Amino acid sequence: MIKKAVIPAAGFGTRFLPVTKAIPKEMLPVVDKPLIQYGIEEIISSGMDQILIITSRNKSSIEDYFDKNPELEKVLEEKDKRDLLEEVKKVSDLAKIVYIRQKEMMGLGHAVLLAKDFVNNEPFAVLLPDDIIDSEIPCLKQLVEVYSEYSCSVVALERVDEEGTWRYGIIKPRQISDRVFKIEDVIEKPGPERAYSDLAVIGRYVFEPDIFSELERTKPDSRGEIQLTDAFGLLSKKRPVYGLLFEGRRYDVGNKFGFIEANIRLALKRKEFEAKIKEILSSLKY
Ligand code: UTP
Repeated sequence: MIKKAVIPAAGFGTRFLPVTKAIPKEMLPVVDKPLIQYGIEEIISSGMDQILIITSRNKSSIEDYFDKNPELEKVLEEKDKRDLLEEVKKVSDLAKIVYIRQKEMMGLGHAVLLAKDFVNNEPFAVLLPDDIIDSEIPCLKQLVEVYSEYSCSVVALERVDEEGTWRYGIIKPRQISDRVFKIEDVIEKPGPERAYSDLAVIGRYVFEPDIFSELERTKPDSRGEIQLTDAFGLLSKKRPVYGLLFEGRRYDVGNKFGFIEANIRLALKRKEFEAKIKEILSSLKY
């Protein structure tokens, strides 16, 4: 039912400087593949097959990664490296991906607004690649299920501690069912005093196309950025917007600690690495 997904990937990645001077954050490998690939795989396994990635200057390695590389394929074929050849081909065959450049980094809301023509008046998903979500049912698929029940925009929610109220948009919830909440209002990074609840918005969304008119009306914040949170706050005043407390574990790989944790835990889930990593971890002395 929802076929299109947008991945905003134009940000500077300042929390990962200096490496992001030369390598896009989205291309940093978690275990053995770039973190953006986890997002692409989640989109595909949620039933979407048209993907728009919003990029920016110095991010062309993302396009190269998902492109074909005939010279490399030829060399691997000649050397009879079948497994590697399959891996390389798999990446370029993953999905139909198109790209738009955000010329000035004017915020996540501004990046999503660039998807208006691609979306063409249909409901669509947005996935922030620096949230990797490990779950039985892909997180976006969980949102799509709620969307098909209520036919309105749905965002993913996670419970956070006090520190999280400084880092995320926090919603004013009205509980609808065990895991579904109607969003009455949302404040970006309110801090514990102003937070309505402990329910934070994380990087997965399914939007009705009417989000675009709210994005167009949204004023830049004090840093000159158009916030997606402000736009769906405006939307929630006009039409129901729902939040889903998704099932699964999220890794915030946009910060160094979350990135390290994701590498350890996701490597432990891989048969070929599990025993060796456990051995390393248990041999550590503090
Ligand atoms: P972040 O707030 O994590 O910013 O953006 P960032 O630049 O990626 O990283 P830091 O905070 O400087 O370390 C959340 C998402 O929105 C995208 C980012 O690429 C990321 O996926 N984004 C942000 C844009 O596409 N354009 C923008 O102008 C801002």
